[in-house]
Amino acid sequence: MRKNIRVLGLESSCDETAAAVVAGDGTILSNVILSQIEDHKPYGGVVPEIAARAHITHMDRLIREALYEAKCDFDDLSAVAATSGPGLIGGVMIGMMTGKAIAAAKNIPFIGVNHLEGHALTIRMTDAVQFPYLLLLVSGGHCQILAVKAVGEYERIGTTIDDAAGEAFDKTAKILGLGYPGGPAVERAAKLGDATKFQLPRPLKGKVGCNFSFSGLKTAVRREVEKIGDSISQQDMYDLAASFQEAVCDSILDRVDRGMDYYLEHYPSVPHIFVVAGGVAANSALKSSLSQLCNEKGFSLMAPPMGLCTDNGAMIAWVGVERLQLGLVDSLDLAARARWPLDPNAATVTGAGVKA
Ligand code: KG4
Ligand code: ZN
Repeated sequence: MRKNIRVLGLESSCDETAAAVVAGDGTILSNVILSQIEDHKPYGGVVPEIAARAHITHMDRLIREALYEAKCDFDDLSAVAATSGPGLIGGVMIGMMTGKAIAAAKNIPFIGVNHLEGHALTIRMTDAVQFPYLLLLVSGGHCQILAVKAVGEYERIGTTIDDAAGEAFDKTAKILGLGYPGGPAVERAAKLGDATKFQLPRPLKGKVGCNFSFSGLKTAVRREVEKIGDSISQQDMYDLAASFQEAVCDSILDRVDRGMDYYLEHYPSVPHIFVVAGGVAANSALKSSLSQLCNEKGFSLMAPPMGLCTDNGAMIAWVGVERLQLGLVDSLDLAARARWPLDPNAATVTGAGVKA
């Protein structure tokens, strides 16, 4: 029964246009992604208007490709799932309206997916991890520690009070002239640098709670660049990238360490599973520090494969599968949301980069 389910998932909340078909047992039948990196490169960051135009130009073709690769057509679909927030509202509306149109035309359920839930539940599609688990969601728009209790049930244990981790990587890459997108560029440069050359701050390290802060770190990098002035060398850039990456890893580790203590206290007698997801989870320095921390604290570290850490349609289709099986479908008047926290009870943190 589960195997016969086929859900089409659409993602368009940022700078990837994506469509995928996932079966009820988690098999990814197709996962087509069009990155807009080249469109945004000249601006050093995502331009919402350009993103929206690209989504509208390519979405229909990507859906056709996803269906073709999955060897099915609209009549084989059990439901359509589309990201309905949080994200750049123009893009979100394009994916969501396309999904609703297919659902209406084919008379099948529509599921409006929280993009963050896509990242949060990917590990259940790839590794069938059972609830509950502790999650670090680190992406371009978000940096949160969450207890994942069930579909639609989250406790936010910590979040960023200013920039997201990926945003800090992107802004630092821009300051260092390393190109866009910043995360992979900083990681590559860091491999050639010496992390002990610059003493950068470890924001919030040792402080109570599990919140993150990255904006001061990025400013510290800018100050070092200004201090050196015109004589700055390529090696200085590499050393700054390495020092920055190490400072980010140190800060994240300190916050996750506390998050684990909180989880152990508030979720006793459950398996100690720690999942890392989102685009920044592709960073191998972060992954290896987290792996060491997990060993020390007795957690098993789980992470989706790299290609499913960054934005994709399969993660949205999978949330569709999970929700469809629970009867959690949406009506066609569901509104797109620029902000949409996973834990509605968590206190609002009004930092510049916090989108949920
Ligand atoms: O999850 P994602 O694709 O999009 C959002 O939902 O935000 O994450 C994109 C973010 C970007 O900020 C990118 O610079 C960062 O993930 N990223 C990395 C790496 N690969 C991607 N950050 C650090 N190291 C990487 N290797
Ligand atoms: Zn994402």
